[in-house]
Amino acid sequence: MKTSFILAIVAALTIGVVYADFDFYLFETFWPETLCGMSERGSSCWLNPCTDSFTVHGLWPNNTDGSYPSSCGGSSWDMNLVQDLYNELIYKWPDYNSSEGKDGCDSNRNSFLEAKTYHSVDYLWEHEYTKHGTCAIKYEPDTFSDEHDYMSEALYLLDMLDFQGALNQLGYEQGAEGMVYDDLMNQLAGYYGVTVSVKCQSSIIFGINACFDLNLGLMDCPSNVVGEDKSTCKKHADALAWPTIKYE
Ligand SMILES: *[C@@H]1O[C@H](CO)[C@@H](O)[C@H](O)[C@H]1NC(C)=O
Ligand SMILES: *[C@@H]1O[C@H](CO)[C@@H](O)[C@H](O)[C@H]1NC(C)=O
Repeated sequence: MKTSFILAIVAALTIGVVYADFDFYLFETFWPETLCGMSERGSSCWLNPCTDSFTVHGLWPNNTDGSYPSSCGGSSWDMNLVQDLYNELIYKWPDYNSSEGKDGCDSNRNSFLEAKTYHSVDYLWEHEYTKHGTCAIKYEPDTFSDEHDYMSEALYLLDMLDFQGALNQLGYEQGAEGMVYDDLMNQLAGYYGVTVSVKCQSSIIFGINACFDLNLGLMDCPSNVVGEDKSTCKKHADALAWPTIKYE
């Protein structure tokens, strides 16, 4: 028993297993109408007409003590490597500050207000990859071999979590008001089987965040994640709203 255990360690060291320098992944989303409401649209943000649900903010290697590795080097961002994901990235992981890529969705939706493009279409993707993706790749190379793996995993997690579908199942529709933070948290925990974390901006839902272990299995979000997000909901914890996405 002891011998085989030691042999296993020796084998692991010999083949160069890399040990994660972080504890879990924090997956954060945005609710589009909160990030880019009608009043700002066209001046300081832009809503892709294909965007019809929560969008990806980032998939971040985090430590339970609140620290996190960042900008871990490796290959620099290359848009060509994710070209096949482009049509999904533009509306599921939008920058809200780039008005590129408005084709390919419901033609009845028209939220393409004349807007300044402050950012190139891949500004946010490059930032997220360079700051966080490179660390996922460096420390968990068996999970993420490259930029494409990292970006496509985030898109997959967004679809898999389907926060909008969950809220609908729990009886909430876009436009809901008077939502109670504690109830919502309990209902979502019941739905997912783990604690996810609701984040607010004043009295409206800003996004929902989820936590994953190093095998990308859903896990309870650590208390500091929940605590930090909860503090953003505190003021209106018994009267939160989930604003309807408006397209014009
Ligand atoms: C877009 O960029 C402008 C100018 O830098 C900034 O004021 C605004 O907050 C940004 N909006 C979003 C949603 O990122
Ligand atoms: C997780 O990581 C993000 C960005 O890397 C950081 O902003 C945030 O504070 C971290 N949160 C916790 C609870 O570790």
